[in-house]
Amino acid sequence: MALPPSSHHDSGHSALSPHPGTGARSPLGAALRSPAPPPHSAPAPAPAPSSAHSPPHSLPLKHTEPGLQPHSGRTAARSTVANALEDIERRLATLPAQNAPGREFEFTSTDFERIRKLLYQHAGIALSPAKQDMVYSRLAKRLRVCGKKTFSDYLQHVERDRGEWEVFINSLTTNLTSFFRESHHFEILTEQIRQIKEKRTIKIWCCAASTGEEPYSLAITACEAFASLSPPVQIVATDIDTAVLTAGEKGNYRADRVERMNPGFLARYFDRKADDNSYTVRAELRRMITFRRINLLSPTWAVQGPLDAIFCRNVMIYFDKPTQYGILKRFMPLLRPDGRLYAGHSESFMHASDLLRSLGRTVYTRLDSPLH
Ligand SMILES: C[S@@+](CC[C@H](N)C(=O)[O-])C[C@H]1O[C@@H](n2cnc3c(N)ncnc32)[C@H](O)[C@@H]1O
Repeated sequence: MALPPSSHHDSGHSALSPHPGTGARSPLGAALRSPAPPPHSAPAPAPAPSSAHSPPHSLPLKHTEPGLQPHSGRTAARSTVANALEDIERRLATLPAQNAPGREFEFTSTDFERIRKLLYQHAGIALSPAKQDMVYSRLAKRLRVCGKKTFSDYLQHVERDRGEWEVFINSLTTNLTSFFRESHHFEILTEQIRQIKEKRTIKIWCCAASTGEEPYSLAITACEAFASLSPPVQIVATDIDTAVLTAGEKGNYRADRVERMNPGFLARYFDRKADDNSYTVRAELRRMITFRRINLLSPTWAVQGPLDAIFCRNVMIYFDKPTQYGILKRFMPLLRPDGRLYAGHSESFMHASDLLRSLGRTVYTRLDSPLH
């Protein structure tokens, strides 16, 4: 199926074109350590490898805390529980289609399989059977809006209407994020930036940017590292979901989204809107970031290397290992030899050790990297 155009669709040009930069660099670590928000756990499938055409049945596992290695005994216990749960899921998936009582629309296992397949083929997202209720509630709204009486009618509409196709994909993504999520990565990035001695533009790709909290955290980190509101840093923030990109571009956040932020950052990088008590990211920060739609599954990405960093956090967990491997293989040539790939706390790429090397704390580098 062809990808429908959107306001964020790839232009084919990278926003990461070099410009000269200057600026004194200052430490950020202490400021970042104090306001660190607790990690959020995305409901993450841990799918098994599968073919490109049939989505694997997968099991959402609990994440470990960032920076903590799971205790081996716990891992063994968890895998026993995981196996048992997987078995239950497999059995449930083979039960005949049944509509949950009280549902407004009939939702059969055939409907769910069709949706699962579409999402897997287009976005790489492998939905586990346990996500049926989530899929129903997110899409039932669309059936109402579109005036469709059955899921089958709605899915036919989705396959014919490019606008609805986009809303369908947007509806099924999980966009959980927060400012300075997994804060140790921003300390590592500060150190990385400080070690760059040449005067050049530092380029960062944030490839699952969601509603913008992550790329704005990167921009704040860069401003702090250079003690400047216009550091020589360019950030491309991309996502498959056009609705979150629109929100990210606006850069306006409810007070509860920023309440854990370091008060100094809030004062320096946000303007408070008194009427609704929300906060808008300052224009200088917004100018550092280009938001655009990129599907990581697309055969081409409108991002030009060499990149200093790729932030690809808490999205690979939705993909199976062959999909992850294919993406990692394309990431590596985009990175500078001393560039870093930052992954989410529960994402391990050890299955791609022929492509990249771990630097610890879910940070990776190229195999030929001079870094240790
Ligand atoms: C859980 S959020 C993670 C946000 C952020 N990186 C973080 O760690 O806080 C996952 C994001 O990945 C995006 N996503 C899912 N599939 C994608 C794909 N195939 N290509 C690009 N982005 C995708 C979703 O739209 C969602 O915004």
